[in-house]
Amino acid sequence: MELDSDPEVMRYLTGDGRTRAQVEKAHGLRLATAEPVAGLGFWVGFVEDEFVGWWLLQPAGWGEEALVPGEAELGYRLLRRHWGKGLATEGSREMLRHAFQDLDMHRVFALTLTVNERSRATMRSAGLEYIRTFYEDDDDRDGSELGAVEYAVTRDQWQAAQADSDLTTPAA
Ligand SMILES: CC(C)(COP(=O)(O)OP(=O)(O)OC[C@H]1O[C@@H](n2cnc3c(N)ncnc32)[C@H](O)[C@@H]1OP(=O)(O)O)[C@@H](O)C(=O)NCCC(=O)NCCS
Repeated sequence: MELDSDPEVMRYLTGDGRTRAQVEKAHGLRLATAEPVAGLGFWVGFVEDEFVGWWLLQPAGWGEEALVPGEAELGYRLLRRHWGKGLATEGSREMLRHAFQDLDMHRVFALTLTVNERSRATMRSAGLEYIRTFYEDDDDRDGSELGAVEYAVTRDQWQAAQADSDLTTPAA
């Protein structure tokens, strides 16, 4: 409730803070993303004992006509007081590792409004690349006139980036 009732957190998502009934419904839908594909779903992040936010790896095509095998969509949402500490990036990198190493997925993508700079920066920091800008007619959120963007990374790209960072990181 604390997370989703903050209008600044929800600015580029729903445009306003959510009520308890709306939060419970949305949370149920997020938890359900764990059902169709083993290993995908919803994770909650803590620092020490404190809840900081969540990360989501949902099956591509979830809620649409058919799932896309081997693909997952990344999402995240953090309490405002924990923004800017690198936590969204840290969690997203672990999501990618899990998707490619543990689950053998071949592609992870993420979507956000073009104007959501923090989210785009998180995508870039985690290793996703800009793919496209697209527009949806029925979107009336703040800034939606500039469209939405897709970022993505394939398993091959992720593995190559891991190999590069192994070469450039000095051994402890
Ligand atoms: C998107 C969100 C999770 C990012 O959290 P965060 O704490 O800022 O993320 P990080 O600290 O990991 O920073 C990620 C990158 O954003 C950059 N960043 C921070 N503030 C920024 C800003 N105002 N504008 C642009 N980039 C910014 C950071 O420098 C970092 O990039 P770097 O690694 O190249 O330095 C957080 O702002 C949030 O929960 N927003 C509301 C929910 C939301 O919009 N979710 C995404 C829906 S698609």
